[in-house]
Amino acid sequence: MNTLVRAAALAALASGLYAPPLPSPISLMPLPKEVTVGIGSLPITGAFAVAVSGPGAQDARVQKAVPRLVARMARQTGIPMPAVAPVSEKDAALEIVVAEMGHDGVQKLGDNERYSLTVADSHIKLAADTPLGVLRGMETLLQLVRQTPNAPGVAAGFSVPNVVIQDEPRFPWRGLSFDVSRHFMPVDVVKRELDGLAAVKLNVLHWHLSDDEGFRVESKKFPKLQELGSDGMFYTQDEVRDVLAYAADRGIRVVPEFDMPGHSSSFLAAYPELGSGPGPFPVVHNHEEEPSLAMDPTKESTYEFLDGFIEEMTALFPDEYFHVGGDEVSPKKWLGTPHIRAFMEEHKMANAAALQAYFSKRVLEIVTKHGKHMVGWDEILNRDLPKTAVIQSWRGQQSLWSAAKDGYQGILSAGYYLDLSYSSSYHYSIDPMKAPASPDGGPVGKGLPPGSPADLTADQAKLILGGEGATWEELASVEMIDARLWPRLAAIAERLWSPESDTDVASMYQRLQVTSEWLEWLGMNHRSNLVLMRQRLAGPYPRHPLDVLASLVEPTKGYSRHAQKYGIFSPLNRLSFAIPYESDTAREFRNGVDEYLADKRNGTELQKNLADWEQAARDVRPMLTNQSVLTENLPVADGVEKLCQVGAEALRYLSGPTKPPVDWKKTAKAKIDPFVGKRFGDLLIQIGPGVRKLVEAAPGS
Ligand code: ACM
Repeated sequence: MNTLVRAAALAALASGLYAPPLPSPISLMPLPKEVTVGIGSLPITGAFAVAVSGPGAQDARVQKAVPRLVARMARQTGIPMPAVAPVSEKDAALEIVVAEMGHDGVQKLGDNERYSLTVADSHIKLAADTPLGVLRGMETLLQLVRQTPNAPGVAAGFSVPNVVIQDEPRFPWRGLSFDVSRHFMPVDVVKRELDGLAAVKLNVLHWHLSDDEGFRVESKKFPKLQELGSDGMFYTQDEVRDVLAYAADRGIRVVPEFDMPGHSSSFLAAYPELGSGPGPFPVVHNHEEEPSLAMDPTKESTYEFLDGFIEEMTALFPDEYFHVGGDEVSPKKWLGTPHIRAFMEEHKMANAAALQAYFSKRVLEIVTKHGKHMVGWDEILNRDLPKTAVIQSWRGQQSLWSAAKDGYQGILSAGYYLDLSYSSSYHYSIDPMKAPASPDGGPVGKGLPPGSPADLTADQAKLILGGEGATWEELASVEMIDARLWPRLAAIAERLWSPESDTDVASMYQRLQVTSEWLEWLGMNHRSNLVLMRQRLAGPYPRHPLDVLASLVEPTKGYSRHAQKYGIFSPLNRLSFAIPYESDTAREFRNGVDEYLADKRNGTELQKNLADWEQAARDVRPMLTNQSVLTENLPVADGVEKLCQVGAEALRYLSGPTKPPVDWKKTAKAKIDPFVGKRFGDLLIQIGPGVRKLVEAAPGS
């Protein structure tokens, strides 16, 4: 083993990519718990033999993961790696030691994921307690592979830097809540996203399988669910089992969700007798349509149906946890129905929340009878609910802490909603164990019980299991689903895996950039598909100026895009769908402006940016004028042009001896303010705030 340069390496890792004199850049995401980087590296060759030993060596996940690893290594390096005969541990390039077999059967919450990875000049050793740890360590190893930097005496090729890594996750539940009801996501898409989850060490796919817009699993007992409750797109049970096996091989649990008693129009379309009023009930196609009545919580027949349904689905999905939704039940319909009001009076229920509490308790009994723990959104939280329920906090972080204080396990999704179009740094700042530093982003639940992480005892804090990124697919189809998830989900993955102290945003963005490219390499199409979508918009015009314009804007934040315009059959082909949720260019410009105002060194670069963008805003005009779907974006081009002109003027006044005319600042602001923080259709021009900062800083009153 070579000399280790731990302190320098850790400092460099924390600040992002390595700089000389370290041997080469490495970029890991999520950051491991402990990393020590050495000098030197292990060259990757075509004879990449792997030896596996220890009691866990025969585990099917390990057995399947080894050839997958070699295939990925071959692809990452472009070096053919023909199968080699088994070699001894000491002759193998990679030695894997699995200390335990782990328990039988399905992966459980809290299964040990710890591993250690040691790379020395001639040998890689991956040691883990369990097969699951091996899977996590393999992902780290693959992230370490890079082209060998040039140095005297070093052969050209690919290598893994010498490192010692000790790693384990901070939280045991790290997932993605994935809505396939609003827009159906076929099996190949789900598998691709599972590859992505595994790559960033997420371990739960929470599969939102039913909602007002569609029921997405074949039920053999209640076939009208898929026949009448969907648009014909659903997973057969064989397909479900195929996905479950694929996930299990990658160390990912699959928790199904069937949303009830609200968000249940697809159930009611199939079985109207479940509704709390007379049917028939349509499946919902447009968001302005009133969802149908919730299920009727007063009828015994509702629970008889759910018993049969849950029996079938708990047998299909092997995970110990079963999600029953419970969110956003409109009290209006229940309270307006005479027999339901009578039931409430008879049972002394003061309000609809009490009725929902009764429903949740009855459903929990059914879920428990079928051997599972019930999970629900935070609306199910109430004093009567048995402590075996798991609360998923979405309306505000306080529900997580308040649930833990009351003795419930919880998972956090408030602050991790990927469909709200917030930045990676926002999601990265949200920590299940910390009150948010700034109150500006994310939903804060009205009417939720107060809660604070500071109130929790050590035992209560342990009830917080982790979190899930969440996405709702009203406005995401197969074509842009990857851009909805990636790369921002990787920032959430790091928050949930890595130590609490890893909070360096600049480092996160540097590594996220590398991770984003790597995810694309693994098959995610979050960048390439957006390019194709912009090509469709550009048609016969050269695409470049549209790409430049697209790089300066972001979709509007929150749910403002949903209003009126879209239903599940609406075309999702406008520019706002063909751009990333976060503009890297705008963020770098904002940072560039801050740097410039601090030391004035990068003025030429900023001038060049503004000149290039202004040119693109002019060049894109014929395309916007003639391509009908794009024409609504002419004001965006106006805005970019104006912002660039004014920004360039401000930079000239800031950097040169010339003083601006007396009322220049006022005029400049009047020119740009119509474009700063204003929405243009579904878009925001994100270079606006940076330009305004330059104007503010320029000389003059
Ligand atoms: C939710 O976003 N309605 C859970």
